[in-house]
Amino acid sequence: MKNIEIIGCGMAKAGKVVSNDDLSKIVETNDEWISTRTGIRNRRFCTEDEDAYTLAFDAADNAIEDAGIDKADIGCLICATISGEYITPSMACVIQKRLGLREDIPVLDVNAACSGFIYAIEVARGLLNGNGEKYGLVIGCEQLSKLLDMTDRSTCVLFGDGAGAAIVKLTEGGLYESFLGARGGYEITVEGAGPVRSKISMEGQEVFKFATFAIPKCVNALFEKSKLTIEDVDQIVCHQANERIIDHCVRKMKADPSKFYKNMDKYGNTSAASVPMALCELKQMGKVQAGSKVMLVGFGGGLTWAGVLLRLGDRS
Ligand code: UT7
Repeated sequence: MKNIEIIGCGMAKAGKVVSNDDLSKIVETNDEWISTRTGIRNRRFCTEDEDAYTLAFDAADNAIEDAGIDKADIGCLICATISGEYITPSMACVIQKRLGLREDIPVLDVNAACSGFIYAIEVARGLLNGNGEKYGLVIGCEQLSKLLDMTDRSTCVLFGDGAGAAIVKLTEGGLYESFLGARGGYEITVEGAGPVRSKISMEGQEVFKFATFAIPKCVNALFEKSKLTIEDVDQIVCHQANERIIDHCVRKMKADPSKFYKNMDKYGNTSAASVPMALCELKQMGKVQAGSKVMLVGFGGGLTWAGVLLRLGDRS
């Protein structure tokens, strides 16, 4: 199997900023509880003119531009999401058509909840190795605002809408390790294909415990496989569910906190979109660039976990 590297990133923020104070007018909560328990201060919800598909399109378009490639050279499209309007057509198929991508390429959605983008990176690697194409488009996109039960203060304050995307390139040499798994469980649920619009429900403390197990497990497994150490890696981009989860793991691993970027204060938990959005911001800030070694780590519904260690590159 050849390795892949990420050569372009894009993101799309939903238009409506919703603060903790805004939510305290809807449910019995307050800024102090939300920010100290989670690190979240604002999240963004789609406006009336936006939805998961417009966000996914914009993020993908930005990633193609950032990579500097011709969209006719894209050889697969995978979209990680749990919040598409349809079970079929997949969100990926809708975006394929809107972007005007080729028809002779594999196009599919991946559902691994908050680990979804990283699962999708792994799927893209497999597909590109199979079909011999050079570039793949991977999107993580969620419109979780429409899945929120605004009477449940233990979940509705946590989530937001957003999208992130990456262009991956099949490379000779390079670096790629992955560590994916799942446990099976109903700790986070969104019912599907039922007559009633379903809502997110979550056993917060169980998921917290799982998250603080999953992040170090992924990080340590990837270091073991690659024979690299934390000093060799530029950034470890974790799923942005809760600041306390990341801080706990940093302490547990005795790691340098500056290598663990956090942006949940601005966007809340955007599930499959959180890792590519964070990666995109890191690239825009110049904290990572072509040549950087980056670890991406996710955990969430399923219960799933996923980590990949790879290099950022360019289209050459
Ligand atoms: O992306 C998927 C991955 N998801 C996660 O990683 C989430 C992991 N879990 C968590 O981040 C935390 O468990 C939460 C942030 C969801 C909850 O924090 P917690 O410290 O586990 O709180 P808790 O559920 O134990 O609730 C403590 C108290 C309860 O009140 P009592 O029973 O002690 O009187 C809750 O009713 O806090 C209350 N509470 C709230 N109070 C104000 C729950 N939600 C709120 C709220 N505002 N929004």
